[in-house]
Amino acid sequence: MIALSLAEIAGITGGQSHDIPDSGLQVTGPVVIDSREVEPGSLFAAFAGEKVDGHDYAERAVAAGAAAVLATRPVGVPAVVVDDVTEALGALARAVVERLGTKVVALTGSAGKTSTKDLIAQLLQHKAPTVWTPGSLNNEIGLPLTALRATEETEHLVLEMGARGIGHIRYLTGLTPPHIGLVLNVGTAHIGEFGGREQIAEAKGEMVEALPAADAGGVAVLNADDPLVRAMASRTKARVLLFGEDADADVRAENVRLTGNGQPAFILHTPTGCSDVTMRLYGEHHVSNALAAAAVAHELGMSVDEIATALSEAGTLSRWRMEVTERPDGVTVVNDAYNANPESMRAALRALAAMGQGRRTWAVLGQMAELGDDSLAEHDAVGRLAVRLNVSKLVAVGGREASWLQLGAYNEGSWGEESVHVSDAQAAVDLLRSELRPGDVVLVKASRSVGLERVAQALLDHRTEGEVTGR
Ligand SMILES: Nc1ncnc2c1ncn2[C@@H]1O[C@H](COP(=O)(O)OP(=O)(O)O)[C@@H](O)[C@H]1O
Ligand SMILES: [Mg+2]
Repeated sequence: MIALSLAEIAGITGGQSHDIPDSGLQVTGPVVIDSREVEPGSLFAAFAGEKVDGHDYAERAVAAGAAAVLATRPVGVPAVVVDDVTEALGALARAVVERLGTKVVALTGSAGKTSTKDLIAQLLQHKAPTVWTPGSLNNEIGLPLTALRATEETEHLVLEMGARGIGHIRYLTGLTPPHIGLVLNVGTAHIGEFGGREQIAEAKGEMVEALPAADAGGVAVLNADDPLVRAMASRTKARVLLFGEDADADVRAENVRLTGNGQPAFILHTPTGCSDVTMRLYGEHHVSNALAAAAVAHELGMSVDEIATALSEAGTLSRWRMEVTERPDGVTVVNDAYNANPESMRAALRALAAMGQGRRTWAVLGQMAELGDDSLAEHDAVGRLAVRLNVSKLVAVGGREASWLQLGAYNEGSWGEESVHVSDAQAAVDLLRSELRPGDVVLVKASRSVGLERVAQALLDHRTEGEVTGR
């Protein structure tokens, strides 16, 4: 991060300095919340969690090179003491981004935020130094930590913003006011917590309300194919740029198809022209993500050819999202266990079907969490889709929701051993180890809380034939 003295940090956060040996003491390294990640000059932000209290690690952090600690009580080493560490981090981020004047691109949506953020980062890096959210650190702590990584060299800050309720995006955009605000889609992720799709749209739309007016450079990048997102145009003073497959989108895809490997190919159109794209990522859902990223890159001055080349080269930066690995025996493992919702389940199953042409396909699926009243119907529908797409074997893993998945498949006409329900990850691994044959393709996918990546990892782990390890 940029160099700040403890006096400046105290001023910005409204805190008090304690145990400062030298009034010129400066923070120069990144802000971290885990004392093991301290770098020379870091600011260690101490959080009091349920099991561990960061304040107990303050001394260790300073011994490891941290310049100071951000804390809620004096800790015997140089510290700025504040009432609330989360709010203090937010205030710091806001002050630093304002001082740097970095261009801020913020994005939200129900599915595809991390994938799209990683695409945008890979595109913009061709243009200028870019800092982006690592993984999915998209909340009130991760966002400031990311923003505080910006330096004088940084030209673009690409920030993923998550929401589990009304007001969350407003809070995050208040910390790092975006110039370009992107909304990907309004799906059903966290619908149980929100109450319904309209409430989700209400919450995600806070993104475009936060943008500057068109004449001040604000740009709202909206999905033309999603009616609830398109309708957000009425909630912003910013200029609207539409992406999607819809014919009136400013940035659109034509002739969309999946290659035999399940990789999307299409003709990209931007206001500067058109160019062919064949992606390295898997699954048709990435077309929408790619168009969103292309729209942002276009807005920041990239030509259609530059964008198409960068999109065709882009890989995955975050783990367990359609991570495809070939085993030496010819079994292909597709690890999409990072998360799941009905939209992404359908996209992943279609990708499996495309990749598995002429091969045996396995869908190892678990619960999609937080679906509220829709849960039974959505699990049933995914089970049915697996049969309609001709997936050879469905392995539903877990409790009640898994049984709904399997029953959906059964009712759609799968019979005998084509769909099975097993109780846990270990049972799934045992079944797969005894039945997989060279040439098979295995998709592994469920909500984060199920931890099904353990199945994918066990299938790829040739050193031991032992137990599935815990997370
Ligand atoms: N545009 C999209 N529509 C539907 N599902 C998607 C889309 N993009 C990605 N996914 C799927 O959603 C899951 C989560 O993807 P991710 O990029 O991590 O999204 P998020 O950060 O919004 O949770 C993955 O399983 C991925 O395959
Ligand atoms: Mg994410």
